[in-house]
Amino acid sequence: MVNVLSVVFPLYIYPTSCSPSASSPTCAWYPFFQAVQANPPVMFNFVINPNTGPGDLYTYPNTDWINVISYARSFNNTRLIGYVDSDPVKIQPSAYKPQIQTYKNWYNYTAKDIHMDGIFVDDMAYSSSTDSYYTTFANNIKSVWSTAPVANAPAPYIMMNPGSPISCSFYSNVNSLVTFEDYYSNLHNAPFLQSPYTNCPRYKQTIIIHDFNGTAVDQQQVCDDMGESYRVGNLFITDAIENDKLNINPYDKVPGMLQQFAGSVKATDSWITAHPQWYPDI
Ligand SMILES: *[C@@H]1O[C@H](CO)[C@@H](O)[C@H](O)[C@H]1NC(C)=O
Ligand SMILES: *[C@@H]1O[C@H](CO)[C@@H](O)[C@H](O)[C@H]1NC(C)=O
Ligand SMILES: *[C@@H]1O[C@H](CO)[C@@H](O)[C@H](O)[C@H]1NC(C)=O
Repeated sequence: MVNVLSVVFPLYIYPTSCSPSASSPTCAWYPFFQAVQANPPVMFNFVINPNTGPGDLYTYPNTDWINVISYARSFNNTRLIGYVDSDPVKIQPSAYKPQIQTYKNWYNYTAKDIHMDGIFVDDMAYSSSTDSYYTTFANNIKSVWSTAPVANAPAPYIMMNPGSPISCSFYSNVNSLVTFEDYYSNLHNAPFLQSPYTNCPRYKQTIIIHDFNGTAVDQQQVCDDMGESYRVGNLFITDAIENDKLNINPYDKVPGMLQQFAGSVKATDSWITAHPQWYPDI
């Protein structure tokens, strides 16, 4: 099977009005579920982030969260990864391991299926001096995942977010690395496309573009470039803006061209799937 492009939703939107039903158009996540439902061949990775982490330890999330998580689980083209923060100075295993265990314990909620498929590690500050911290972080996720309450759960999907490219040698620890989280205007000079990173595995890279100001046709072109030319694994495009001074973050809004984006990823994938011989992995 040829590798195709998947979507990631860094979904830092509280699931307002998603109780009693996440399938209601009033649910804040409804547009994201529409994108999933309309594009079944495309895999959608949802970053689940109740409170810069799972929220209260060793318990289940509230009804709003349970509803969106279980509804997201009802599709076959979703993968759910729980958010944890990192930062080698501040967050030690004694603090992040209980959060990972809390996500893992969601496996034994019985009223609905709210299990997580893996973990998203934000604020990765990678350097040669933090390599061992992050290798241990990934190993701790794997070890929590291999124990109770479901010892034989599938291996966790691990995505880490340095926001820019890092040494190719780290890739074996994870499933995906966010190697670009930046303004659309910076995409074409992006370091992930340049030396010394050109030979890092592309399929293990996630590209997150904000402040997108092109048309739907431009957006299709970006999907084609990322999937076909650069062969990356995951993509998110939003027109929402980032402004750190004004404390505006681009991940708490529904992208203006969300449905077109999801449809464009599907179109890119149809093309790749129809011509697998043209798209070897890089
Ligand atoms: C989900 O199931 C549908 C219908 O069987 C199928 O067309 C689609 O490819 C599946 N998607 C994934 C990501 O497995
Ligand atoms: C869920 O699993 C964890 C880990 O095995 C366990 O400590 C906890 O008591 C379980 N909770 C319920 C409600 O079963
Ligand atoms: C998008 O933004 C870039 C960088 O700010 C600018 O150069 C370009 O003209 C804008 N494009 C459109 C279509 O507005």
